[in-house]
Amino acid sequence: MTQLAELFKCALDMCLPDSVVVLGVAGGNGLEHMDYLVTTRIVGVDINVRYLEKVEQRFGKRVGLELHCHDLAESPLRLAPAPLVHAALVL
Ligand SMILES: C[S@@+](CC[C@H](N)C(=O)[O-])C[C@H]1O[C@@H](n2cnc3c(N)ncnc32)[C@H](O)[C@@H]1O
Repeated sequence: MTQLAELFKCALDMCLPDSVVVLGVAGGNGLEHMDYLVTTRIVGVDINVRYLEKVEQRFGKRVGLELHCHDLAESPLRLAPAPLVHAALVL
């Protein structure tokens, strides 16, 4: 497990969020550790559509996955609130 995925898992285990936003989701590092019975809404945001396609390929069958191709430096993204926002190496 990569260190970032490990940190993400720690945050998930501590917060047990019903929804989570992952800024700079890249290829979905750490999403494999999600308990999909606990976290039923997963929002991934990235500027790179190819990364989002990878996430879709890997995790698209899970219910509750929302992917947004968006430049966070350009404009804010309006999303329903989530108790956990994970932003590893993106800000
Ligand atoms: C170092 S990677 C993130 C690693 C990932 N969070 C992890 O845990 O492995 C940075 C990601 O942020 C995305 N990114 C960079 N600038 C961005 C921006 N302005 N808006 C949205 N995503 C951005 C990149 O495309 C890349 O997928």
